[in-house]
This record gives sequence, structure tokens and C-alpha cells, in this order.
Amino acid sequence: MILKLAKKRKTVRKFKQENVPVEKLLKCIEIAKEAPSGMNAQPWHFLIVSDPIVKANIRRMCEDGEKTFYERVKGELGEWLKDKGFTWKKPFLEEAQLLLLVFSYTKAPYSKESTWLAIGYLLLALEEEGLGTVTYTPSNPGEIAKLVGAPKEYRLETILPIGYPNDKKPKEPRKNLEEIVSMNKFENNIQPLFH
Ligand SMILES: Cc1cc2nc3c(=O)[nH]c(=O)nc-3n(C[C@H](O)[C@H](O)[C@H](O)COP(=O)(O)O)c2cc1C
Repeated sequence: MILKLAKKRKTVRKFKQENVPVEKLLKCIEIAKEAPSGMNAQPWHFLIVSDPIVKANIRRMCEDGEKTFYERVKGELGEWLKDKGFTWKKPFLEEAQLLLLVFSYTKAPYSKESTWLAIGYLLLALEEEGLGTVTYTPSNPGEIAKLVGAPKEYRLETILPIGYPNDKKPKEPRKNLEEIVSMNKFENNIQPLFH
């Protein structure tokens, strides 16, 4: 049941050192590719990385980008990151058994919206398979795309490290329906930006 999967799913940043069969991930991509897309362009590409050397290179390049980002970040986002304990270090990029790099084909209409819909489908499919991930959005996607040989028309949207969850962190709270739904007229219920 989708409600149960959605309620149970949480971001996982720590993984067990247990092998993940590529077939399991392919089954999840089979579900993701059923997502709707603008003009049915299906403007997505999924790159699976299992090679430890490639994973290590991706991690190094991502962490270089993160160092620059963390030096510059200020304001509410900076405070939120500090509060949550996030740093430039991204060990999950090597610890996860597989990395799934999701690209959008930028020449297609609504390529970003469509690709993120497919990513949403994928997150629930992974949950159903007992797999965990974090929707990691690198600060230097263009450099990573180049590293893995993506054509310039493809934008790297996210890197999903895939593995069996080993993360005790509880699920982040969600807003109540009353806070996010209004009827007939938009109720101007101003919310804090970050939770
Ligand atoms: C578009 C998007 C970008 C995100 N980028 C990152 C990221 O770069 N690094 C990270 O650790 N988590 C990232 N996340 C995960 C969110 O922090 C997480 O989904 C949110 O805090 C809610 O927690 P939950 O997924 O456990 O319910 C991202 C999530 C989304 C949807």
C-alpha cells in the first residue's frame, strides 16, 4: 500500500556492507520509468555505478565541491545544516554498494519536473524492496556529469547511494494536513522555511 510505504520511507545515509543485486535496482527503475513526463518524452537516464574506483572518484569530486559550498553557505540554510550536523564529508558515496546517477535530458520539455517525478516513484520502489537511499544533490553536478562521460545535453539531477539501511536516525517530522491544505481560497498560513 502506497500510504504505508510513504509513511515508512526515510532518508538513509548509513549502509550495511551487504551486496545489493543489480537486478533489484533494475526492478525499481522499471517502476520509475512508468512515471508521467511532459509530451511523454521520458527525459531521464539512469547510470548505475558499482566500480569502487569510480565511486571513490565521484566521492572525491563531490567532496571538493562541498568544501567550497560549506565555506560560502550562510543564513538560514547555513544554520539548518549546522543544526543537523551536516558537513562536506559524504562517506555514503563509497559505503553504499551501488550509486544511481539520475540525469535529465535538458532538450526535452519539462525535463526536470518529469525526471523528479520518476525519482519520486523510485524512492517508494526502493522502500518496497527494503533498500535505502539519500537524495544527494551535489553542488557541482556538471563536473560529476563530465567525469562519468555524460553528453552535455544531460543534467545530473541527483546521486542516489543504494544499500541496505543501517541508519537509526528517526524519520523527519511532517506538517499536518491543516497546515498545507486550503479550500476555495488560499489561506495565507505563513510557515517557517526550514523544519
Ligand atoms: C530535492 C532534494 C534534495 C536533497 N538534497 C540532499 C543532499 O544534498 N544531501 C542530503 O544529505 N540530503 C538531501 N536530501 C534529503 C532531505 O534532507 C530529506 O529528504 C529531508 O530532510 C526529509 O527527511 P526524510 O527523507 O528522512 O523524510 C534532499 C532531498 C530532496 C527531495
